[in-house]
This record gives sequence, structure tokens and C-alpha cells, in this order.
Amino acid sequence: MEIKTVEMGDGVVRIIDQTLLPGKYEIREIKTKEEMWEAIKMLRVRGAPAIGIAAAKAVAVEMLRSETRDPDEFHRELEKVTDYLATSRPTAVNLFWALDRMKRVTRKSRERSVEELKELLLREAHAILEEDRAMCRAIGEAGDALIKDGAGILTHCNAGGLATSGFGTALAPIYVAHEKGKRIRVFADETRPLLQGARLTVWELMHVGVDVTLISDNMAAQVMKEGKIDLVITGADRVAANGDAANKIGTYGVALLARAHGIPFYIAWPASTLDLSLVDGGKIPIEERGKEELTSFGNVTVAPEGTKAYCPAFDVTPHELITAFITDRGLIYPPYKENLKQFAT
Ligand code: MRU
Repeated sequence: MEIKTVEMGDGVVRIIDQTLLPGKYEIREIKTKEEMWEAIKMLRVRGAPAIGIAAAKAVAVEMLRSETRDPDEFHRELEKVTDYLATSRPTAVNLFWALDRMKRVTRKSRERSVEELKELLLREAHAILEEDRAMCRAIGEAGDALIKDGAGILTHCNAGGLATSGFGTALAPIYVAHEKGKRIRVFADETRPLLQGARLTVWELMHVGVDVTLISDNMAAQVMKEGKIDLVITGADRVAANGDAANKIGTYGVALLARAHGIPFYIAWPASTLDLSLVDGGKIPIEERGKEELTSFGNVTVAPEGTKAYCPAFDVTPHELITAFITDRGLIYPPYKENLKQFAT
């Protein structure tokens, strides 16, 4: 399924406001860097690759409005815009990767006029989106090989079309297997506290007729014990050089459960998610979100006023628990340190 998670036209970026799903399907028009910062921060647009794409588009739109005729001044303004958007969320490396690409494409072209630089930025943002779409397809083809007819698959959070410009990373192999007529059953963790699994993954999969069953996060062990899960596939927000992988909070727990039940645990990601500058997952910045995301459910308060709460939005799964990575360049097995280095060359 192709969902237009991020689009661009007439000096605006259009996103699906994911905070309103599944109740309401609404397109939000973003005109400024401040509006995009808010949209990323509030998870109106979310999922590692989608955040990068949206930010790149916002840079292009913002810089299109620049009134300077001086290329040096233009570069300085661009630097400010990218620095600002980089402060929206810390964990998904795809954001920084995309902003970096936007800066690099103009840096290589110092002698160009402002008009030419604007055109380069527009083209680069478009390329980032199109490349992501192609990477999703490649991930889907690579991961499909792991899915047998009749398989039960557990996934966590949403790493589908809503998280990318294509049809997702973790959900891509599921879509390809479904397209090929394999009978598969997907179990979607609801993914507390913001329910990306229940609200987004179930919505996406139901839309195309994939057999999907919602479970709450604390049901995963029981469902595994009942023999309903043959493999787990999740996405990632950042993969360190040794293969440690950050993803939505709860992923580490699912990986431990999979190991305890002898179930293979796969993480799917595109090249933009790999961060070889970090030797291991210990250095991945983990976003901490407001405690109200935990003390309320929807708009209903579920904990006493004054409750102390801690709300890390991501965790890091140690590479030892990961059976293989499903990437746009095929499957990657341990030893990860060597194989990821090779992947990047
Ligand atoms: O907080 P979110 O909804 O942006 O978290 C999203 C995830 O953790 C996804 O699994 C990850 O970004 C991979 S998306 C292809």
C-alpha cells in the first residue's frame, strides 16, 4: 500500500496528521520550519525515515522563501534552518542524515546563484523521498524470503507506510508476502503509551486486507508461548556500528521474549538508519517525553495528580538478540561489526 505520508507542492509540505488516526484522516499543510518542528515533536509526522523526509522537504520550502541574493548569506540561513529542525527529536538518525544531505548538496556548489541553490534543495528533498520509496521495496523483497506461507508475525510500533514514503520497513516484507498470496497472520503490539501499533499499524494492515490481530504489549509473552508467533519484525531508529539498535520503547523487551521462546527476531531498516559513528548503542540519545503521555490515556487521566512518571520513548536492543537485519541491500547476519562496515562501503 502506498500512503502519501509526506508530499510537497505550491510552497507547502503536506503530511497526514498521524495524531488523529484512526478516527480522522486529515492532511495538514506545513508552511514554515516552526510548523514542521512542531509536527515532528508532536508526532504528527513520525517514524524514522518519514521524519527525515519531512524535515528535508521543510528545508526546501523554507529556503525557497529566502529573499537574499547573496549565496554566502543563503548558506548561513540554510545552516540555521537545519540546526533548528535538528532539535525536534533526538533518536532517529534519519533526521540528521537527511538534514546533512540538504546541507551537503549546496556545500558542493558554492559557486552557484541563490536561484540555482534553491533548485538543488528542491531536487535533493525529492530524491530523499524517492530513494526511501525504493529502499522500502527492496527491504520488502529481502524480508519476504524469511516469511513462510501460514506464518505468524509479531511487530511493534509502526514501521509501515506511515513511517516512510513507501510501504514501510518492518511492514514491507509483510506487504510483499501478502502481495504474493502467502497466508500470514500479523500480531500488532498496541505500543504504549502513544499506541502507534493499535492506531497506525492495525489501520494500515486492515486497509489492504492483511490478517492483523491487536494485542496489548504485556500479552506478547503469552501469545508467543501459545505458538502463534514464528518470527518478529520491527523497525529501527538508529543502528550503531556493532549492531545495537534503537527502536520504540518496548522493542528490547520483545527481543528478550523472542529469545526466551526461540523465535527469530529481525530488525528492518534502510541505509539512512545506520550510524557507524557510534561504536555501540550506549551512545544513542534516547528521547524522553512528557510524563502526561503516561499519566493519561487519550484525554483521560489514568494516574493520580502529582504522579511521578518516567517516559523514555525508545530503547536499545543489544545486537546479540537480533537474528538478522533486513535492509535495502539484503539480509545482514552476525558478525555485525564486520558486516555493517561492509554494508556501508
Ligand atoms: O515515536 P515514533 O512513532 O516516531 O517511533 C517510531 C518507531 O520507533 C519506528 O519503529 C521506527 O521509527 C522505524 S520506522 C520505519
